[in-house]
Amino acid sequence: MRQRKPIVAGNWKMNKTVAEAIDLATAIKRELGDCKDVDIVLCPPFTALKAVSEAITDTHVDLGAQNMHWEKSGAYTGEVSAEMLRELYCHYVILGHSERRAYFGETDEIVNKKTKAALAANLQPIVCIGETLAERESGRMTEVITTQVRGSLADLSPRELVSSIIAYEPVWAIGTGRTASPEQAQEVHALIRSLLRELADDAVAQSVRIQYGGSVKPANARELFGQPDIDGGLIGGAALEARSFIEIVRGAI
Ligand code: PGA
Repeated sequence: MRQRKPIVAGNWKMNKTVAEAIDLATAIKRELGDCKDVDIVLCPPFTALKAVSEAITDTHVDLGAQNMHWEKSGAYTGEVSAEMLRELYCHYVILGHSERRAYFGETDEIVNKKTKAALAANLQPIVCIGETLAERESGRMTEVITTQVRGSLADLSPRELVSSIIAYEPVWAIGTGRTASPEQAQEVHALIRSLLRELADDAVAQSVRIQYGGSVKPANARELFGQPDIDGGLIGGAALEARSFIEIVRGAI
């Protein structure tokens, strides 16, 4: 018996027109609309949120965004707030993805502000962390993960921690076809859970869901999701095609 309900999210990144997004969401809901064993989340670009929200109404498939600003409103050209996402029936938001950290300068401090704002607006944050290849190869993985977990989740109450989802995404595995082995991923997931225990207590640590992300495919999903501390995945490339995403979700059941 699994202790935590698995959660599989598709991060569509900057892909899909509105028409393509509707097609993909419709194909996914046709097969998984009734699925109660896994929380399924689709994260299209902002422009397709409304259309996807309408396509998945009255199903068990849920909606997430890929980013947001921490303020409620104001002079922040190009940004979108948590309340605006809630208005479109988003329940989740991906925060601090490594692409946002690398290309848009997001720090743990920024990710922490966004995480608090998301929780305050009743959005479940999917907080991304992960080390680069250089950091892993120089033996700094533990230090990097520890800093990111403590920084991104700073000052969250036990209740807020339980509402948060963490995605461990080794940067060297994202979009590279190079997946962490189930053992490598499990080692880091166990480390993250021990850090959660330090931030709160064992009950909280055992409740928080930790996804793996980085070149997850139908062929490796089941083995990854079968690890004791891996509670589903954050899927990029393989989430852009209905068949592979559906098979990956089935790997979590
Ligand atoms: P990938 O991306 O599955 O294409 O490696 C994962 C992610 O960036 O969330």
